[in-house]
Amino acid sequence: MLEVKNVVKIYTTGDLEFTALKKVSLKIGKGEFTAIMGPSGSGKSTFMNILGCLDKMNEGKYILNGKDVSSLQDDELAHIRNKEIGFVFQAFNLIPRMTLLENVELPMLYAGLPAKERRERAMAALAKVGLKDRVKHLPNEISGGQKQRAAIARAIVNSPAVIMADEPTGNLDTKSSVEIMRIFQNLNNEGATVIMVTHENDIAQHCKRIVRFRDGEIVSDTLVEDRIIL
Ligand SMILES: Nc1ncnc2c1ncn2[C@@H]1O[C@H](COP(=O)(O)OP(=O)(O)OP(=O)(O)O)[C@@H](O)[C@H]1O
Ligand SMILES: [Mg+2]
Repeated sequence: MLEVKNVVKIYTTGDLEFTALKKVSLKIGKGEFTAIMGPSGSGKSTFMNILGCLDKMNEGKYILNGKDVSSLQDDELAHIRNKEIGFVFQAFNLIPRMTLLENVELPMLYAGLPAKERRERAMAALAKVGLKDRVKHLPNEISGGQKQRAAIARAIVNSPAVIMADEPTGNLDTKSSVEIMRIFQNLNNEGATVIMVTHENDIAQHCKRIVRFRDGEIVSDTLVEDRIIL
C-alpha cells in the first residue's frame, strides 16, 4: 500500500537547521489500521504531513499505491492527495461559511464530478457518519464530535484508499472520541487503510498496530494485543 524509505525532513528557521525526521523507514499494507504515537515534538505530524502529500521530504523515497511520489511537483501531489488520500485534522478544518453538505462536496468539485453525483455522494457520506439530519447546518451550529464526523465524511467522499488523521480525537471528549474510533473501525472493516496519530493509549488500543516515534526516529513497531473492537 505505502512504503517510505530513509525519509529525512529538515526544517530551516533563519540559519538554524533542525532535523525532524532522521532516515525513517516504514511499510504499511492494505487494510492495516495503524496508530502513530510518541512524545510532543517527536516528528509525528511532520511524518503524517509527508505521508499525506501535504509536505515534501528532503531525502528519501515514498511509494504510494505502487507510484513513486517522492519527487512529484506540487500540482501532481495535489492530484494524488485528492484521489488517494482522505486527510482528517485535529482542528476539523471545515469551511465556516459552507454547510456540511457543501463542505463534503468540495473534494468532488476539485475532482470535477457533476453536481447531481456530488450531492448524492456527499449525502451518502454524511449518512454514513450519522449526520443525515444535519446536512444543512453550518460548522458552528454543531458539536465538536459532529464537526469531526463531517470532516471524516469529507475525507471519505472520493473513496480514498488511505485515510490519514492527525490527532482526530485531540479536541474531543471521551464519548465523541469513541464514536470517531467506531467510524474508523467500520471504514477499516470495509477495506480502507487507516493511519492516525494519537497520544492517548486507550485510543491507540482501537487500532491494530502501534508505531512509536522518539526524536525523529521510529523506536518501536508492535501489534496491538487485546484490541478494543466496537
Ligand atoms: N514548520 C516548522 N519549522 C521549524 N520547525 C518545525 C516546524 N514544524 C515542526 N517543527 C519542529 O519539528 C519537530 C517535530 O514537530 P512535529 O510537529 O512533527 O511533532 P509532533 O510529534 O507532531 O508533536 P505534537 O505531539 O506536539 O503534535 C519539533 O521539534 C518542531 O518544533
Ligand atoms: Mg503533532
